[in-house]
Amino acid sequence: MDLVYRPRRLRRSAPIRGLVRETELSPRQLIYPMFVTEGKSVREHIDTMPGQFRFSTDELVRECEELYALGIGGVNLFGYSIEKDELASKSYDPNGLVQRAVRAIKEAVPELCVQTDVALDPYTTHGHDGLVINGEIVNDESVEVLCKMALSHAEAGADWVAPSDMMDGRIGAIRNALDVQGFSHVGILAYSAKYASCFYGPFRGALLSAPKSGDKKTYQMDPANTREALREISLDLEEGADVVMIKPALTYLDVISRVRDTFDVPIAAYNVSGEYAMVVAAAEKGWIDRDRAMMEMLLSIRRAGADMILTYFAKDAAAFLRANYGSYT
Ligand code: PBG
Repeated sequence: MDLVYRPRRLRRSAPIRGLVRETELSPRQLIYPMFVTEGKSVREHIDTMPGQFRFSTDELVRECEELYALGIGGVNLFGYSIEKDELASKSYDPNGLVQRAVRAIKEAVPELCVQTDVALDPYTTHGHDGLVINGEIVNDESVEVLCKMALSHAEAGADWVAPSDMMDGRIGAIRNALDVQGFSHVGILAYSAKYASCFYGPFRGALLSAPKSGDKKTYQMDPANTREALREISLDLEEGADVVMIKPALTYLDVISRVRDTFDVPIAAYNVSGEYAMVVAAAEKGWIDRDRAMMEMLLSIRRAGADMILTYFAKDAAAFLRANYGSYT
């Protein structure tokens, strides 16, 4: 055949492929979502997410030391609260679970970027991310509680607060609450385009936070929409978000890519619990290669345009990258 250009020329060897590779994945781009529980020396296995644990604060600190040594950028903390009430009053307790965990990590590993989840669902009896008044998930009243929660995390030393609740106007309100109290250095990682997804199922198992009635469709986004994601992202940026997030990641790679083309800001994507669980389950059955699936997924999220990835694979991927550093994988 008389071909001028033969694409296979650039795939002939691992070093040649390495030279033309367009996307890199590094541990510093990974954020590990972690679950905190009460007690001492607790490392409780999470059935719905094999390989993930609920850590008591002391164990959490040990794990964070390892993560930091592996070069991982940050952790994102979720509280496994057993004390739930209608008003989520444990969510902003200055001596609450997450607040204590933040202090302990900051003391032991001060450089690790400690991020905290800001949403009410682990703390409410009904399992919604906001307050429920007369059967309605109310917005503005919920934002007031979210501000108190964010402030209590900032006071404990969190580097970033990460509102995952999808109430309207919460980014601006939290930014203002933080600034007024002298926390202008604390960043906001905004869950801007968070879809009402079935892929959060295993996570709700981990925190026992599934809504007792109804669903989250009046605040989380319709999976059918992209333009709305762009709108949500502009609003959050106007309100002062430092980093915007798209969640889940894999079924929304097109959204990540559009956001990358539209905005010059740091983008995060959340490789959620269901995406993790699918790979782990298929690998357990011997149907898929766990490491290769993990690396291909994470690379695809970077290729779509995410700067950073929240993933339950963070530690495994960092270890994999370290073990294979310099080799042509
Ligand atoms: C709730 C929250 C959810 C996740 C992060 N924060 C679940 C939900 O919205 O019901 C999901 C994370 C995952 O599935 O890994 N504020």
